[in-house]
This record gives sequence, C-alpha cells and structure tokens, in this order.
Amino acid sequence: MTEPKRYLITSALPYANGPKHIGHLAGAYLPADIYVRYLRAKKCDVVYVCGSDEHGAAITIQAMKEKTTPKAIVDKYHAMLKSNMADLGISFDIYHRTSEQIHHETAQEFFTMLNNNGDLEIKETEQFFDEEANTFLADRYIIGTCPVCASDSAYGDQCEKCGTDLSPEQLINPRSTLSGNTPIKKATTHWYLPLNKHEDFLRKWILEDHKDDWKANVIGQCKGWIEMGLQPRAVTRDLDWGVKVPAEEGKVLYVWFDAPIGYVSATKQWAIDNEKDWKPYWYSDDTKLVHFIGKDNIVFHSIIFPIILKLHGNILPDNVPSNEFMNLEGDKMSTSRGWSIEMDDYINDFVKKENGGDQMVDALRYYLNAIAPETKDSEFTWKGFQEAVNGELVAVFGNFVNRAFVLMHKLCGGKVPKFSNEIIDDADKQLLEEIKNTKTLIEKNIEGYKFRDALTAVIDLARKGNKYMQDKEPWIIAKQTNEDGKPTTEAQQKIDNCMHICLQLVANLAIFINPFLPNAAKRMCVMMKTVEKMLDWENAGSAKLLSVGYSLRPPELLFRKIEDTEVAEQVEKLKIKSAAINMNKETIIKEQLANSSVQLAVSKEKEATEHAKKCNIKSEIQFDDFAKIDLKVGTILSASKVEKADKLLKLEVDLGFETRTIVSGIALHFEPDAIVGKQVVVVVNLAPRKMRGIESNGMILMAEDAAGKLHFVAPNDAVHNGSGVN
Ligand code: MF3
Ligand code: ZN
Repeated sequence: MTEPKRYLITSALPYANGPKHIGHLAGAYLPADIYVRYLRAKKCDVVYVCGSDEHGAAITIQAMKEKTTPKAIVDKYHAMLKSNMADLGISFDIYHRTSEQIHHETAQEFFTMLNNNGDLEIKETEQFFDEEANTFLADRYIIGTCPVCASDSAYGDQCEKCGTDLSPEQLINPRSTLSGNTPIKKATTHWYLPLNKHEDFLRKWILEDHKDDWKANVIGQCKGWIEMGLQPRAVTRDLDWGVKVPAEEGKVLYVWFDAPIGYVSATKQWAIDNEKDWKPYWYSDDTKLVHFIGKDNIVFHSIIFPIILKLHGNILPDNVPSNEFMNLEGDKMSTSRGWSIEMDDYINDFVKKENGGDQMVDALRYYLNAIAPETKDSEFTWKGFQEAVNGELVAVFGNFVNRAFVLMHKLCGGKVPKFSNEIIDDADKQLLEEIKNTKTLIEKNIEGYKFRDALTAVIDLARKGNKYMQDKEPWIIAKQTNEDGKPTTEAQQKIDNCMHICLQLVANLAIFINPFLPNAAKRMCVMMKTVEKMLDWENAGSAKLLSVGYSLRPPELLFRKIEDTEVAEQVEKLKIKSAAINMNKETIIKEQLANSSVQLAVSKEKEATEHAKKCNIKSEIQFDDFAKIDLKVGTILSASKVEKADKLLKLEVDLGFETRTIVSGIALHFEPDAIVGKQVVVVVNLAPRKMRGIESNGMILMAEDAAGKLHFVAPNDAVHNGSGVN
C-alpha cells in the first residue's frame, strides 16, 4: 500500500479465563508493542487496541471449575491481564473488554447488518445435546478422541494436542464435559456464515495480493483451509453467556464472531475517551490495519474476520503477522499442565521484588524477542535467559554504555567533548556510517515484522562500539602526558574525538533500543540529561544528538546479571509447580470420578426402584444375596392331602442325595396322583418350617400365570435329581 495515513494495530484479545504465560506475550503482544513504539517514535498516527475476550466456553467452563459465575471469572482475570500487560510495558492505547455494553451493541450491529443483507444462512441441524444437563454441547462442552492424533481429550472445536481445528461431529466417541454422558442429537436452528461463497475473494486477496508480504506460515495455513474446501460456519450458539442474538431467546453470537469485533468496539471506546473520530480507522483505505496474533488464531483473522469486515463495509487487514509457538525447557508451554511461566509469576518474582524491576522487564522483553518464534517454534530456557541477558545485554550493550560514560567522566571532565574534523580517521567514519546503516536495517526489519533481526542489529551496533573503543584505547592515549601530568593537546584531541563519537553512539543506541526495551532507553535519557523527545526516530543516524560542552550524569547500570541461583530456583519452581498441578489434577479427577460414579449409582438405584415398582419387581438384591439361595432339581415320589388344609399337599421329594418332606400350597391346582413322578426345582436351604404339624424342608418353585393358575418350574429335559440350578 502507499504510505498509510494512520495505523490501527491490534493484539489478539486474550481469554479472561486465567493467567497468561510468556509464550502468549512473545506471540501476540511484545511484537505488536515493538511495532507500535517504533511507529510512535516515527510520529505516525497509530492506535494500538486490545482487551479481554470474555465470552465463550473458555469462560463458562473456568467458572464451573472455580465454582463461581462467569462474571466473577472475567472480572478477576481481566484485572490481572490488564495490570500484567501494563507492568511488562505493553503500551496499549486502550485495553478494553468484550463484556462492555458498547461491545455488545457493536457486535449485534454487525450481525444485524449481515443478516439483513442476506449474507448469513439460517439452517436447522442436529447437534449434540446432553439430556442430563439439558443443554446443547458446543465447542468445548464436548470432548472426544481426535481423528487426527488420537488424543482422547480433543475439544469439539479444536484438538489442543495437535492443533487441528475440529467440529464436534469429527470427534470419535464424543462425551459431554458436563456429565460425562454420551450426547444425543437434537435439532436446533443457527445462523451460518457461508465461507464457501467467498472463496474467489480469498484466493485473490490472500494467495495473490498478499503472497509476498504475509508470512509463509500464515499463507500456508490459509492455503490449506481454502484447498480443503471452505464450509459454512455457524456464528451463533445455544448458550446464555455471550452477546445475545438480537430478538432471539437462548442464543448468543459465537465467541469467534464477537471477539474480533472487539477491536472495533475498543477503537470506539478509545475515540470517546480521547475525543477522536474512530471511523477513519475502520473505513478509510489509507489506514493500515495489522493484527498481531498467535498461530492458533490464524484462520479467524485471515479468513473469517476479513469476510465479516468485507461484508460489513470495513477495511481489511494489511497483514496478520503470526508467530509459531514458544516451548519451555524441552516441553510445550501449558498453563493447565503447570509447565509455563505466567506473566504474573515473572512479575512477582522479578519485577516487583527489587529496586530496578524495570530492568527485569527489559531483560524478559530482550530474551523473548531474541528467541521469538517468528518462523518456527523456539524454546525458552532459564539458562538461555541468563546467557542472553548476561552475555549480550550486560556484556555488550550495557557494557558499552557504561564504559563510554565512565571514560567521559574520567577523561573529558563529565562533558560532551568537542569533535575535530581535521583528525577524523577511517574508524570514526566507519562507525558513523554503521549508525546510519543500522537505522535502515532496523526500519527494514521492523516494517517487515522481523523483530529478531531488528534487535540483533541494535546489539551488533553496540558490539561495534565496544570494538571501536577497544581499538582506540583512549585510556592508553591518556598516558601521553605533559609535565603537568595531563594528556598532551594532541592526545586529548584524539581522546575527545573518540569519546564524542562513543557518546553520539550511546544517544543513537537509546533511540534504537527504545521500541524493544523502553526502560533502558528512559534510563539512558536520564544519564544524558535529554528529554524523551530525543528518542524520536528522525533523530536516529545523527552524529549531533549531544551538544558539545553539555554535562552528563554519572552512569547508571542499565541491566543486571542473572545469577546461577536464580536460574536454579526457577527451574526447580517449574518442576514443583507442574508436579503439584498434575498431582492436584489427579486428585481432582479422582474426586470427579468418585463423584460421578456415586452420582451414577444413586441415579441408577432411583431408576431401578421406580422401574421395579412399576413392574412389580421386588427391591434389588446383590449377587451375593442371590448366591445364598440353593436350588436343586428333585422328583416328586408321593403326594397326599393335608388334613384340614385344603390348599396344602404333603410331598416326598427325591433330591438324589436325600429324600425330603415338603409341604406345598398347591392342593387347589393339582390332584396328588397327577404330580407323582414330576421333576421340580426346590429351594433346599430354606430354614425348616412347621405347617399343620408337619415340618416342611424346602420349597417348590412355581410360576403363576395371569389367571392365578400355578405351573411347575422344571428343567426342560430330565436331569439327575440333585442337579443344581443357577
Ligand atoms: N481469545 C482468543 C484466544 O485466546 C483470541 C481472540 S482474538 C480476537 O485464542 F480477535 F477474537 F479477538
Ligand atoms: Zn489431535
């Protein structure tokens, strides 16, 4: 695009569902902040917006976990994220939140316009439904086995293990996260954004127009999506937490529909707060819109949201720089597994703990940027952090600035010495040239979103400064003295030239380092007694930033060394934390399992009792109860009526091992002679019971039909007497 009139820079809105780790910081916030600070130094019109993403299942599920309300969750974590970002120097112009009224209205207006224009499709489909919880199961409410990597805890919208985007239908063996039950399918109506209708636009806009300026990983993902065949995507959900679908009960906008619109509502709120007009930022072609995101957000920012913006009549992003992932000490960074460094923890351990915590903000910013996963995954290690800080920040950059100031005080009376053009040499010229080259190099790299290379250029320049000073050895030249012990005029001239250049370099380094390490730049301004205005980018490259004769302050330490003990402590802490979380998780899982099996048993029992009542079944017994009953087959040897008891027959039954007398209440149903020789099933271990003076030693099993008539229960075929019945 031609030189933009204004910039609108966004960083992905973090979910306010928990603390965020330094991998997030390195992915979407730090690079954007560097870019924005650079643009501000160039005096560009730039607005940098962000805020908390407060909707979606990420929030409601966290609320369930913490046994509180979604509102309490977002309030708590919004406050945390906002202050963490500020503490780490992320310089948003506004950090908004999607629970604000202005956001709900803005998102609804987008939806209504698209809906009214016929850009959305309404479809009735069958969706997973949890009958026990009486709710539809969207996105994270459903888990199952990932069809790609076979992880058994993939969500309905994404597998966190392999990163594949999923739909609930793709899950193998889907389960509800609410009850653990297998869901049923139930019909529901939703609004869909037909991505497929925009394929031609996307192909041209991404794969042609931006094939050279977007990062390869972004283009690659987009290409994959387009080639796979774009599908209509639901933009509403059956939930009650979120932005209400206008005039529709029980439905909200899908969180990925409303969240990016958060960039728009944040801009509106910023404009209100600052008495500005927000519209040019979203409607004017001469605005450069850049979304800084992490790799798991690519499809939303380069395919879905642009379609929404286009349909709504807004400008499209000029770029969507996305980083890959940052791993930690040999494993994937993950807050839920405890394998992470939360911003909040780093701030508590390093920033808030001591004087000069701002140095430790810069230390983190330095290392994260030096190892930024710009083109491939990278790895944070505490050892690496120590080496980068001690070996580069302290030993190269800090060292140069410190030596320049110490020597200037020692050899030049604490003032900026004059520069004599007559004795300028090649080394001087070369270094002055390097300053200019570095400026160009940094510009090129920052504008191309290559922040690592840009920062390397700054450190390299400081390294050149060290070498220059080392080669010139002004402290040796100072030994060429007159009788009074002071350096000769010639010697002093050389010293002055060298120190003059070194100090101008320090001033340039302050400008160069400012977007990356703003605290160091401020400290340098204090040392140089310059106002921060000096940090304006247009000043960079100049050899006249500090005026001759100007007295400067003594040096301050810009960075401090990281001790071995600190490294060891942090590594240990990481191990303990992850072990504790995983142990805790096991207990929680066990508890949940225990709970759910108890619940299951309780509800099954209730069910069984009701069923039994309905069907006239006796109350449930356990197998052990049943196993106590001993049933054996016997043959009736004789049968006779019992006096004065018209219902009873006295039977002699051959049980193989013995013959028993059994009194049975079957006289009304059978003639005694007719049943002799019949095989029957006898309860042989029933306690003896006297009836009409006769001891009965067992019971014959009978079936009673609907008419009340009795039938013998007997083996189908003749068996040996005494055979067991189980
Ligand atoms: N909250 C999402 C995440 O953390 C990012 C949302 S970015 C936005 O993955 F564009 F939707 F705001
Ligand atoms: Zn997977």
